[in-house]
Amino acid sequence: MEEKIKSVAERIKKSNKLTVLTGAGISKASGIPTFRGKDGLWNKYSPSELATYQAFSKNPKLVWSWYNYRRKIIKSAKPNAAHYAIYELEKIFKDNFTLITQNIDSLHRRAGNKNILELHGNIFQTKCLICDKVYFDDKIYEEEELPPRCRFCGGKTRPNVVWFGENLDRNILDAAMAASAQCDLFLCVGTSGVVQPAASLPKIAADIRAYVVEINVEYSGVSIYADEVIIAKAEEVLPRIVDLVKD
Ligand code: APR
Repeated sequence: MEEKIKSVAERIKKSNKLTVLTGAGISKASGIPTFRGKDGLWNKYSPSELATYQAFSKNPKLVWSWYNYRRKIIKSAKPNAAHYAIYELEKIFKDNFTLITQNIDSLHRRAGNKNILELHGNIFQTKCLICDKVYFDDKIYEEEELPPRCRFCGGKTRPNVVWFGENLDRNILDAAMAASAQCDLFLCVGTSGVVQPAASLPKIAADIRAYVVEINVEYSGVSIYADEVIIAKAEEVLPRIVDLVKD
């Protein structure tokens, strides 16, 4: 393990353009459940009943109450050492750094990262179905207030997150693909690599011969594209790598 940590740190030191992709695994240590794996959310809840537009159309109150419940958990969570390590990397690489996250928990923002592409939206943003406005709204609603009304036009709103079967924001996806195709080092942290189009980003990086590093507690759907796979907890190994980079 030590050798791998040193070698990845050396690679990062030599890199000119770093792109990072994160998934739910990076927030596990902050107390936010992942989606898959033994205690994943999708073992308890059905994505088709809670994370699709069809489910929302059928029962907006149920879907909103689930996101409201998740807002409550996430709001009390704090960024962990892995989030702060990635913030340190942005400070080192400055404009040559892009963070792409599948997470909607805002923990990278709270850790200080600025250049973030939130592929799947943000649980603390609300989107109006009538006037299309998107605004930050971290309120935890009482049941009777659900679904919340748009603060601008009073229309029906939805959480500003990407549901299964929906397209991602085109500009955000294009920027993520560009950052994957123009980096010389691609660091993939805590994703099962099974949900598209995010799962294709490490392949895009590998195809342009970027050096791809994966940090995960087990092999994943992106491991085949990785030049180096570190099987470890992100919150344990990322800070050690960044300490060596800063040496
Ligand atoms: N450190 C590193 N990796 C970890 C840790 C940890 N401490 N704990 C768990 N992991 C890994 C798991 O091994 C798994 O590979 O994190 C990954 C989490 O996978 P998922 O739960 O599938 O989360 P993610 O890959 O982000 O899912 C992608 O699927 O349901 C949708 O929209 C949702 O954004 C999500 C997308």
